[in-house]
Order: sequence, then C-alpha cells, then structure tokens
Amino acid sequence: MKRYARIVGTGMAVPKKKLTNADLTRLVDTSEEWIESRTGMSVRYVAEEGEATSDLAIPAGRDALSAAGIAPDEVDLVLVATISPDMLFPSTACLVQHGLGCKRAGAFDVLAACTGYITVLATAKAYIEAGLAQTVLVIGADTITHYVDWEDRNTCVLFGDGAGATVVIADTKPGLLSIDLGSDGGQPDLLKIPGGGSRIPPRRRDLPLSDLCLKMDGRAIFKLATRVMSESLSKALERQNLHADQVNIVIPHQANVRILSAVAERLGIGFDRWMINIEKYGNTTAATIPIALHEALQADRIKSGDLVAMVAFGGGLTWGTVLARW
Ligand code: ACO
Repeated sequence: MKRYARIVGTGMAVPKKKLTNADLTRLVDTSEEWIESRTGMSVRYVAEEGEATSDLAIPAGRDALSAAGIAPDEVDLVLVATISPDMLFPSTACLVQHGLGCKRAGAFDVLAACTGYITVLATAKAYIEAGLAQTVLVIGADTITHYVDWEDRNTCVLFGDGAGATVVIADTKPGLLSIDLGSDGGQPDLLKIPGGGSRIPPRRRDLPLSDLCLKMDGRAIFKLATRVMSESLSKALERQNLHADQVNIVIPHQANVRILSAVAERLGIGFDRWMINIEKYGNTTAATIPIALHEALQADRIKSGDLVAMVAFGGGLTWGTVLARW
C-alpha cells in the first residue's frame, strides 16, 4: 500500500517583545501609514539580545508534538529551516532534538530563506514516502531581526521573529500531494547577508557591521516574487490535474500583502481564500507559513478534505509550493 505524508499537529511561538509601527517611527524616518499601506504590517515580535532561534523552535515543536499526541522519542527526524541559526554549527535542529528529548531522531538544518519551510516539508514528504522515516518534526524558525540594520528604513520595518512547527507522519490516506521547488542563484545580491561566511569571514579586520546585516533590493524582489509564486503554485496544481478553482485555502509566505494580492489576482484565487496574518507578525522568514497554517487550523479555516496550497519565495532566490489534501 502506498505511503503518504500527512500533517497531524502544529504549534508556534513568538518572542515576548512587541514592536509596533509607531515604535518604528521613533527609530527611522517612516510613518505608521507608510508601513501599513505599503506592506500590510502593524505589529511584529522581536527577539531580545541572547534570545536565539532554538528558544522559539523548541516551544513551537513541543506544542506541535503535543497537538499530534506524539512523544518526543517517537520522532525519527528533526528538520529546521532557518537563516538565523543559533550558531554556524552545530545545527539548530540538533539543539531542538536535544531540547525536546527526541532521542531517536536524526537532525539537520536547511537553508532556503523564506522558502525554507516549504523545502523541509518537501524533504519530510520524501523521507516518509521512501520509507526512511515514520514521524518527522518540521520547523521553520528565524530570529532574523538580529541581522536587521535598524538604521535602514528599507528593511527594518519588514521583519519579525517567530517559529512554526508541524508534525508529519506516514499514513495510508493522501496528505501532502505535490511539490514544486525552484531556484535561481544568478542574482544573489538581491537579498543577502554578505558577511560572516567563508567569502567575507568574520575575522576580517575591516568587516563593516553593515556587512553582517540583511540587504535587499525590495523593488526587484517584489516583481520576481509575484511571478514565481504564481508560476510555482500553477505547476504544483498541474502535476495533480487540479485547478486554482479547487483550492480551498492558500497559506502563503507573508512578505508583503500587496505581493499576495497581485498573486491572487494572477491566479484567479479570491483573496477571501488566502490566510493572511502579516499585520500581526510581519515577515518572520521561514516561520510565516507554519505560523499561518497553525492559526488557520485554530480558526477552523481548514476542514477535512480541503485542498490547501502553501507557497513561498525567498533569498537564493528560491521558491516553492506544497499542495496538501486535509
Ligand atoms: N518608510 C518610508 N519610506 C520608505 C520606507 C519606509 N520604511 N522604505 C522605503 N521608503 C521609500 C523609499 O526610499 C522610496 O523613496 P524614493 O522614491 O524617494 O527613493 C519610496 O519609499 C518608494 O520605494 P519603493 O521601493 O518603490 O516602495 P515599495 O512600494 O516597492 O515598497 C517594499 C517597498 C515594502 C520594500 C516592497 O518593495 C517590498 O515589499 N518588496 C519585497 C520585499 C520582500 O519580500 N522581502 C522579503 C524577501 S523574503 C526572504 O527571503 C527574507
């Protein structure tokens, strides 16, 4: 009998410290109206100094396991998507494995920026369908605000921190249906943290602090995101002979509400079928989709049999879609 991968539990965590648009007007030359109208964001949560990505990933993972009724030592694999790991190595997934007591599990991180959660979900599906794992804990977590330049109004207003976790198990009933993943490494300068890696190592004496901060060409990313998200979702639907009309809910990466309404229009999927919570959290990088999925389930917006489309784009550039039957 065919093995399928199904999502059976979700959880989330955000830091305690809240940052409103009004707070941001005291840091940079901006206005509450500009941020709200250009991005859809009102509030975000930011990690304090010393608060790292695993500090959010662990409670989110614990909640997801508890919601699924699965004990930590039943987990075969812990996957964490992040671009803000606690340290270069060991991986954040290893810290989560230990923090949750997933004693039997393998663990590794995946770096695909805002497409990270889609990438680890696709990996979990592949492991489960290949018979290599029965139970996978899939987490998207970032404390990207540690890498934000708080003097750059083009970027500092956009991001927040958070973690979302999902438990995926092997089942005989279809769950995760199809995947589309894409990348284009030809334009790495559009969105990056240039320093701290082997190209510009941290020990370089003349390393400016700004090279350790996130840099972005917002306008170029905006245009690309609109196109690649639409194309990716369409491809994932085509692979299952499904049509946009049949999608009950889209759970997208939350980078800018205007990007999402443009994608909705291109695909002809009414905005009432999109799960948007950007106003509450901002762009939490790899965590936006699992947090939005968790909140959609909590709000009873997903019912048994629904077709759920999760779609993202991010640095790399990377993009991808996972379609799921609930
Ligand atoms: N407050 C006030 N004015 C601002 C601010 C701000 N916070 N930020 C930029 N501006 C100004 C700009 O300087 C510019 O002024 P100028 O015309 O005098 O040069 C003006 O606003 C308009 O700038 P645009 O870039 O055209 O503004 P736009 O409407 O495109 O919005 C934004 C900018 C919000 C960054 C948008 O381009 C966007 O969301 N892009 C995508 C970003 C994104 O998705 N990032 C995440 C990627 S995912 C990942 O992997 C991390």
